[in-house]
Amino acid sequence: MENHKFILADINRHAMRVLISESQIRDRVRELGAQLSHEYAGRPLTILGILTGSIVLLADLIRATNVPLRVALISASSYGGTRTSPGTLSVNNSLVPDLKGRDVVILDDIFDTGHTMVGMNEAVKGFEPASVKSAVLLWKTARSQVNVSPDYYGFKIPNEFVVGYGLDYNDEFRHLPYIGIPDHEDLMAAGRCGTRTS
Ligand code: IMP
Ligand code: MG
Repeated sequence: MENHKFILADINRHAMRVLISESQIRDRVRELGAQLSHEYAGRPLTILGILTGSIVLLADLIRATNVPLRVALISASSYGGTRTSPGTLSVNNSLVPDLKGRDVVILDDIFDTGHTMVGMNEAVKGFEPASVKSAVLLWKTARSQVNVSPDYYGFKIPNEFVVGYGLDYNDEFRHLPYIGIPDHEDLMAAGRCGTRTS
């Protein structure tokens, strides 16, 4: 992101640098909704949110998208991975409705290495949709390990671990209305250090 200035926020006694503010997110999500409304006008759109990180974006984006659409959820877990190398992606599609012949936009909170989105894309193609595209709020461009890019994204961000607006650290902080960079020393001191979740 260009031009961001850090503001210190105090959430649950943790210092948090605000990378993207609530109003910046609101404006950008409205733009993404307008873009989807334009591109999918008259087409049978399903927005498929990846649990759990996409839920806040999903709730806001569908209300900014003015075409008849269906909402669905899918989950995936990455096993045996570390922060820098992904594990095996296990996709649970038991919640996915019939997508045959429909246009699908897979929605996630962040495109980091890209492995989650690529794995989801493969899984969704098995449902024989008319088309599959991807949308994310954040794109950590420097971390990509795949040769595809998100079709729609809100913000490109630097290689920082971020939380809020659906993104978590140890399953916490998803409720923050902004995207923040947690202070790692502070988190470790609070005994919160551990592995990331989906
Ligand atoms: P991937 O590396 O693109 O497959 O992303 C895998 C998952 O890691 C994402 O869906 C997020 O749940 C999580 N993730 C990646 N980067 C961050 C981050 O900076 N904060 C919180 N979660 C992240
Ligand atoms: Mg996630």
